[in-house]
This record gives sequence, C-alpha cells and structure tokens, in this order.
Amino acid sequence: MRARLRVGALASGRGSNLRALIEACRAPDYPCEIALVLVNVPGAPALDIARAAGISARLIDHREFASRAAFDAGLDAALRAAKIDIVCLAGFMRLLSPGFVAAWEGRVLNIHPSLLPAFKGLDTHRRALEAGVAIHGCTVHLVTAGLDEGPILARAEVAVRPGDDVESLAARVLEAEHLLYPKTLREFARARLAEAAVTPPR
Ligand code: GRF
Repeated sequence: MRARLRVGALASGRGSNLRALIEACRAPDYPCEIALVLVNVPGAPALDIARAAGISARLIDHREFASRAAFDAGLDAALRAAKIDIVCLAGFMRLLSPGFVAAWEGRVLNIHPSLLPAFKGLDTHRRALEAGVAIHGCTVHLVTAGLDEGPILARAEVAVRPGDDVESLAARVLEAEHLLYPKTLREFARARLAEAAVTPPR
C-alpha cells in the first residue's frame, strides 16, 4: 500500500487554506503530500506560500486561454504530468468545466464557507448574517458539475455571536476551515489508500 497520495492544490488568492494543508502534510503520518500548486491569478499570495514551502508551483493564467475548456485542459495536463491523485480547491475562484469534473470525478475536494446546502456561491457570511442564522460554518465537499453541490464530506459549525459583523464571523469561520480541511483530507486519503488500488484519473 502506498503511504501518501499526491495532492494538487488549485488556488486563486490569499492561500490560507493552502497553508493549512501544507502544514498538515508536514506530519510524518499524514497520508498526503502537496506535490503541485497551480494558481490562476498573477501575484496571488498562494503562489508565494507554495514556493516558500519548497513545493512545485505554477501560474496558469486563465486569461491566456481562449475558453474555459482550454484553461481546464491546461490544468488537467499539469496535474497528470505531476501524477496527481487528488485535487484540493483552496480558494480557487473558477468554475471547472464538465469535462474536467467528469475526468476527476470523486477526487476533487473543495472547502466552502457555509454549512452547505445553505448559502451556496459567494458572499456567504453577509447572507448568513442577513438571514439571521444562529449557526454558520464551513463544509468540505466533493466537486461535481453543480456549483457547491457535490456530496458533503464534513462540516464544522460556528456559532454566530451577538454583534458579529461580516469580518468577525468570516475570521471565526476561517479558523474552522483551517482545521476542517486538513482533517477531512486526511480521512478521505486514508480511505482511498485503504482501497485495493489507487487508480489514475480517467
Ligand atoms: C475560503 O473562505 C474558502 O472557504 C473559500 O475561499 C476562501 C479562500 O481563502 N472557498 P484562502 O485563499 O484559503 O485564504
């Protein structure tokens, strides 16, 4: 049985979840290594975080491609060249095309800053506050063709406090994300490694 799966992380921005995953992978018994980071936005801090950690990292700028499918084909080629087993979206702000999602079905994880199925899409903290929910949180799910709709792997609840604003609530949810994503990836990867064979993507 292999000891570690090769994770490819896709990011667009700040990279705090990427950092949390990188740190988790430092534990000798963690069942993954971040083998490749792909960033689609020039100057995104996520690229520097990856490089500072000594991880192979590349900018693949979506604006240099004629279509979403062509951009996704570029991602796919880079992931396959690096023999990636699992893809983790870490603040990746692009929708993936149906072809990419089908090819990597069951092996792309995403973290979303709400308790799915509530508050799919953007601006989740403001919408949660406006809805007056008492409990908010974050979700790690498998990526399917529908936005924020794939099977849920794990969720973490965060209580909304009196006086919370978007910033204070977002900060507490982000802390929860940084625990939930590494924990869920660990469980997901352990389960996959325990399967008879880890097959390559289609
Ligand atoms: C996080 O809130 C994550 O849930 C969402 O995008 C944000 C990315 O933040 N998908 P960071 O780049 O990981 O700091």
